[in-house]
Amino acid sequence: MRDLLVIGSLNMDTVIRTSHIPRAGETITGQFSAYVSGGKGANQACAAGRIGHSVAMLGVVGNDAFGDTMIENLKKSGVDTSLIERCQAQTGQALICVGDEGSNSIVVLPNANAFCNKSLIQAHEQDIADSRGVMLQMEIPHDAVFEAIRIAAKRGCKVFFNPAPASADLPEFIFPLIDYITPNETELEILTGMPVGDLQQAESAARVLIGRGVRNVVATLGSTGALLVDENGAKLYPAYPAHALDTTAAGDTFNAAFAVRVLEGAAHDEAMDFANRAASISVTRTGAQTSIPFRAEVLAMMENGGEV
Ligand code: ATP
Ligand code: RIB
Repeated sequence: MRDLLVIGSLNMDTVIRTSHIPRAGETITGQFSAYVSGGKGANQACAAGRIGHSVAMLGVVGNDAFGDTMIENLKKSGVDTSLIERCQAQTGQALICVGDEGSNSIVVLPNANAFCNKSLIQAHEQDIADSRGVMLQMEIPHDAVFEAIRIAAKRGCKVFFNPAPASADLPEFIFPLIDYITPNETELEILTGMPVGDLQQAESAARVLIGRGVRNVVATLGSTGALLVDENGAKLYPAYPAHALDTTAAGDTFNAAFAVRVLEGAAHDEAMDFANRAASISVTRTGAQTSIPFRAEVLAMMENGGEV
């Protein structure tokens, strides 16, 4: 039995560093570009591999050099890649513009990720059942995500659902099957149709998801930290101060670090704090998988009093 199965996207990111993110119609000069392994699913698997114990990834890449690189990078991070399939399409891609203040804008081309469909998920029911936890995002066909949630809950796995990129029309049946849903502020707004401009509003919106049947809402709030809401209460876990160079994959790092600690039996207080620490390290580094820390780095940060 493995600890975690991450089901989702694998993208080769083309990152372009600029002074700021261009507005519509604006042309600007970039500083440099780089290819970096990314994709929300692959980033979360990579982070779980570097931070945790046994993790496998289920997804699809193309029969191309980008696909080879994606698989190689996950293997080096300790991820079991035997469930990653290859198809006659290009590997997924993302074009990421990162401004000097660390924020980004992203265009995703799903390509091979579109083949991670409902029937592929059904063919892997036993692999889902062989996992204590399953982690999902929304960069593969949505009916495949909902099917994976259904199977995972039926087979007794803990379900960690990162609803990113957000969709306003999630089917009602999935909410009571979710142990942890982890939207950022924008995703929480889209999921609930409510404004999320401050902590009070974030808690109110999270309560709507609890009302739909989700057991725990973990709302990630950027440099503010993350808010955990369940039916008994709400608690903010402040972020660790960090000089943010590039926030790409901060959410992915947070999600994986949190899930790993929960699956290890840590209390919520401990898992939230650990996830904030891991994510704060990631924002100080550029790129997606290039920014994700190893467990020893998070532990070292704990020993030196929280300095990133
Ligand atoms: P992304 O899409 O950029 O990967 P996200 O929007 O999914 O991220 P955020 O809420 O921005 O997720 O950030 C996730 C976590 O990363 C936060 O809860 C926090 O722990 C950490 N984090 C983000 N920005 C900062 C920052 N500037 N300083 C310290 N920690 C940060
Ligand atoms: O969460 C960050 C990821 O989103 C990037 O690596 C990019 O591939 C997009 O999927």
